[in-house]
Amino acid sequence: MKRRLLITGGAGFIGSHVVRLFVNKYPDYQIVNLDALTYAGNLENLADIQDKPNYVFEKGDITDETFIDQLFQQYQFDSVIHLAAESHVDRSIMDPLAFIRTNVLGTAVLLNNARKLWKDDLTNKLFYHVSTDEVYGSLGEEGLFHETTAYDPRSPYSASKASSDHFVMAYYHTYHLPVIISNCSNNYGSHHFPEKLIPLAIHNIKNNKPVPVYGKGENVRDWLFVEDHARAIDTIFHQGRTGETYNIGGFNEWKNIDLIQLLCNIMDRQLGRPEGTSAQLITFVKDRAGHDLRYAIDASKLNKELGWAPSLQFEEGLEKTVSWYLANETWLHNVTSGEYQQYYNEQYQKR
Ligand code: NAD
Ligand code: DAU
Repeated sequence: MKRRLLITGGAGFIGSHVVRLFVNKYPDYQIVNLDALTYAGNLENLADIQDKPNYVFEKGDITDETFIDQLFQQYQFDSVIHLAAESHVDRSIMDPLAFIRTNVLGTAVLLNNARKLWKDDLTNKLFYHVSTDEVYGSLGEEGLFHETTAYDPRSPYSASKASSDHFVMAYYHTYHLPVIISNCSNNYGSHHFPEKLIPLAIHNIKNNKPVPVYGKGENVRDWLFVEDHARAIDTIFHQGRTGETYNIGGFNEWKNIDLIQLLCNIMDRQLGRPEGTSAQLITFVKDRAGHDLRYAIDASKLNKELGWAPSLQFEEGLEKTVSWYLANETWLHNVTSGEYQQYYNEQYQKR
């Protein structure tokens, strides 16, 4: 079936992988990427597909009701994959209101416009909301997050994502809007903004700068290669059941300090430095406020019902990721210097 698909946040890290996958795999779909191009949005991420006939970029803010209304009228979307968000926990501690605005209000504006546009015919419509495992709170040493785990968000970021999930389900129950939510664990891979642990550490090691590890480095995260997340979104979008939530994860738990040690070894090898050189850069710093101890996802529902499984072992994915960053120094330079924010003006505004 031909789709008129809105993808929000497609210039960001995960969004750009989702847009690339969909644009290349579904030439019959009309795909609109809506992104405000905040500090985290980088159209250079999509330079390889920007001229494809089934792809359009629209710059705009999901909290802007008038603009979103016009966009829905103009394109008559039948489906939405919603990724646009403020995504960094440390920033949410500094500026919670920005997270409430985009993640809660922005999601509600999109839901409301989907409801208005689809009110007379809900067949073949879908609002797919991309969320996080952080809504479940923090685990102790044992156990996994299941789809039935009670929400217990503990940072302003996770509280805003939990709230947006609740609005999505409220629209399902109240208005019968066809919705799906997926809650994913930590992603890593190419085009990841170097404020998050893995790309920050790669960037700092490359430049012989300290690698900050919060607290004692004992916190545990469950890492998934970003292209596996994009494949999961593709699977759930096409085969998932409406009204359901699906957990996505790699069954791949790492203590931060062990992950950084592994990354240091890979960096030493790929940079041709003597073993142990990069590890000397590890620096323990003040802990994050309210730092969740452990996340770990049970992704067996997605595996059993829809047949999805991660494709890469972590070491292999991390090797690929390091290789990508070392081969794409210009991307990293443009992001860290701020030059990437010129790309929209140069490539789009002159059209
Ligand atoms: P990101 O910060 O890299 O990208 C977010 C994108 O949203 C950017 O392109 C930004 O410009 C855009 N955006 C922000 N505010 C906007 C607004 N008001 N209007 C329009 N666009 C706006 O984030 P990411 O890591 O790619 O995460 C994407 C989604 O996946 C988020 O919803 C996040 O909560 C979720 N998620 C992320 C992870 C992860 O590990 N990164 C894991 C699970 C879920
Ligand atoms: O679990 C999914 C979530 O993963 C997503 O919803 C978020 O959008 C995404 O940012 C990510 O959140 P985290 O807070 O887990 O990711 P981050 O890379 O910021 O941190 C990973 C771990 O590393 C965490 O325990 C904090 C720690 N850390 C982070 C940074 C930036 C450090 O020790 N040092 C650092 O400099």
